[in-house]
Amino acid sequence: MSLICPLCQRPLSLQRTSWRCDNHHQFDQAKEGYVNLLPVQHKGSREPGDSAEMMQARRAFLDAGHYQPLRQKVAEWLPALLSAPQPRVLDIGCGEGYYTAAVADALHQQTEAEVYGLDVAKVAIRAAAKRYRDILFCVASSHRLPFADASLAAVLRIYAPCNEEELKRVLKPGGYLLTVTPGPRHLLQFKALIYREVRLHMPEEKPYAGFTRIDQQNLAYPMRLTGAEATTLLQMTPFAWRAREEVWQTLAQAGQFSCEADFCLTLWRRD
Ligand SMILES: C[S@@+](CC[C@H](N)C(=O)[O-])C[C@H]1O[C@@H](n2cnc3c(N)ncnc32)[C@H](O)[C@@H]1O
Ligand SMILES: [Zn+2]
Repeated sequence: MSLICPLCQRPLSLQRTSWRCDNHHQFDQAKEGYVNLLPVQHKGSREPGDSAEMMQARRAFLDAGHYQPLRQKVAEWLPALLSAPQPRVLDIGCGEGYYTAAVADALHQQTEAEVYGLDVAKVAIRAAAKRYRDILFCVASSHRLPFADASLAAVLRIYAPCNEEELKRVLKPGGYLLTVTPGPRHLLQFKALIYREVRLHMPEEKPYAGFTRIDQQNLAYPMRLTGAEATTLLQMTPFAWRAREEVWQTLAQAGQFSCEADFCLTLWRRD
């Protein structure tokens, strides 16, 4: 296990149904099996991260299979890089665990991997832990990862906030970071409804200090959504708040809405 105490940073171990450090800090395992490692003083707001509504909208959309090609790609790529018999892998900002579970399934076919999912939203972690039993989910922030130094073989970051210093700290030298960010044409048809002038999204080119970029691949495909699915998808995007009432109505009444998915996957290696 590589979990550490969020209060004193000593290793945590599971004793019956509590995670404990040797300074007697204790974090109870919830009945769904996850652990909350976000102390109140690190919380920032009462319910940080995605709301229950956002989480349920995302789960419904993902369950309909529209991002299945991305899930499959991530679940093929990351496990193929890891040859150790017991690699430890973390999905940061894992939401309700859609990608975490696929990576865990693939890894468990070839190794005795320990797979962790982390998100600051308790509702998302609870839903994840309820559905996927062989992953250890925790409530924590990407800005303070409750993992020991150099304890992880790989980290997955899909549309989630992160802290570079923390990523560098927890990954082993030679460990991998796989990031997924929007590609240039991602959801272009939504932008066309919302903005007068549509600009292609410039992929994130920000280097991570202490990492070398070793590969980048694009995954693009058309999606055919129902009006209701399109509304749900729009809710999941950062431009939702810019959409005027007519846009929501147009989408809700549309029989079908065609839209492009375009993802940029980048693989980094810890120096
Ligand atoms: C856009 S969602 C992506 C979820 C999932 N990776 C996916 O693609 O379906 C971003 C996630 O990051 C979480 N999040 C936001 N701030 C965070 C933080 N500081 N630490 C960890 N997770 C955070 C949110 O609760 C949400 O689940
Ligand atoms: Zn402690």
